[in-house]
Amino acid sequence: MAVISDHCQEIKVTLVDTDIQKIKAWNSDNPSRLPIYEPGLEEVVLRNRGKNLFFSTDIKNSIREADMIFISVNTPTKIKGLGAGYASDLKWVESSARQVAKYADGHTIIVEKSTVPVRTAELIENILNESQKMNQDLDKKTFSVLSSPEFLAEGTAIKDLENPDRVLIGGSDKKAMNLLSSIYKRWIPEEKILLTNVWSSELSKLIANAFLAQRVSSINSISALCESTGADIKEVVKAIGSDKRIGEKFLSPGPGFGGSCFKKDILNLVYICRFYGLETVANYWEQILYINVWQKKRISTLIIEKFFGTVSNKKIVILGFAFKSFTNDTRESPAIEIVKDLIENGANLFINDPKVSALQIEKEIGLKELEIDQFSSGSWQFSHDVISSAKDSDAIVLVTEWNEYKEINWKELTATMRKPAWIFDTRIIFSKEELNCLDINYWQLGTIKD
Ligand code: UGA
Repeated sequence: MAVISDHCQEIKVTLVDTDIQKIKAWNSDNPSRLPIYEPGLEEVVLRNRGKNLFFSTDIKNSIREADMIFISVNTPTKIKGLGAGYASDLKWVESSARQVAKYADGHTIIVEKSTVPVRTAELIENILNESQKMNQDLDKKTFSVLSSPEFLAEGTAIKDLENPDRVLIGGSDKKAMNLLSSIYKRWIPEEKILLTNVWSSELSKLIANAFLAQRVSSINSISALCESTGADIKEVVKAIGSDKRIGEKFLSPGPGFGGSCFKKDILNLVYICRFYGLETVANYWEQILYINVWQKKRISTLIIEKFFGTVSNKKIVILGFAFKSFTNDTRESPAIEIVKDLIENGANLFINDPKVSALQIEKEIGLKELEIDQFSSGSWQFSHDVISSAKDSDAIVLVTEWNEYKEINWKELTATMRKPAWIFDTRIIFSKEELNCLDINYWQLGTIKD
């Protein structure tokens, strides 16, 4: 929405939320208080806020004033009821639609931006139609529902929005589709704007994420095969990525994919397939998630095995807790499972991340900083300074590929570790030559030591 306001100065963009604290933070004069860390976002928000970009809790009047409403609420995996553990929970989409139905005035275009399973537009339409029927004066409220799913990735959101590979607009009301398209056309070439039917648009979002996650799980599965055979995953990636039909992007092996989308979307895809009786198709996609769980587990197991089966009382530094670099988001981060496993096995962890707070880590792993795990005596604390945390440590585990970690003087740092010490590079940030000149044991994902 900030990017739309930036490109369309004559359009008034209002973001509403029920969370007063969140809106307060977005309106804060202190840029570091904005609720999300996203490169470039702060500048766009500060440039337009108060001119044509507003943050408000006045949901009622904002809906009434709007010609177009984007529903951008979260759709987490259901934790109970029908489809629990797989289906997306649409309660926020539904309550948003009900509020739109109640407060809208005149003709309103509803754009579903949230990632939603196929046929959600239908649900929204049903809610709006019911409200229309109850409305005495039928001309007063009319609606068009469009689907325009978001393809931005965290960490590169502004870049992705400025220069998207494509924009999808799904719907049947051509006039409404053209209107939304005219907004995007202000900065996006027309040929990148794809007009589809509403179901294609909704399904494409799920499938795009499933294909991306599938690439990560595929390459992660091969990283293990490389470790067994002596092939080098970096060489394999280069060799297969050079084939234009495969492509080099999204082929980086790692500790497993995280983030709020891939797992949720694949679970939902699996649910939809099962719903339509396509059990074999469902099983096929579910394997991507199994590989992801397996990859995280095999990393923590491997660390423990390198210490001959016990990390009890070992001092281990964890570099990175965010699910990838350039974001402070920790949802589904592979670090969570790896860290929990190590603590459960008695390790004392020092966890560093340039953008994630100690409080956030505490929330994710469910153990307070410096609290001793009652079963294993493991613990964790926040590392404010990697260099001093590394002193006398037994191992360093690189989990997130922050640039900060590439810039460390590794020779000096490893010299202060307690020997025999280990580096576990799950993001392949080191070259083999760099690792070879360190006087230390190392393990790098997808390779075996020379
Ligand atoms: C993903 C998609 O890339 C976006 O297109 C989509 O819009 C978004 O989900 C969404 O549905 O909202 P995001 O989850 O922000 O974006 O981040 P990604 O860059 O896709 O990374 C996901 C995970 O995969 C990260 O943990 C990352 O480290 C991992 N990954 C990614 C790899 O391990 N290897 C790769 O080569 C790429």
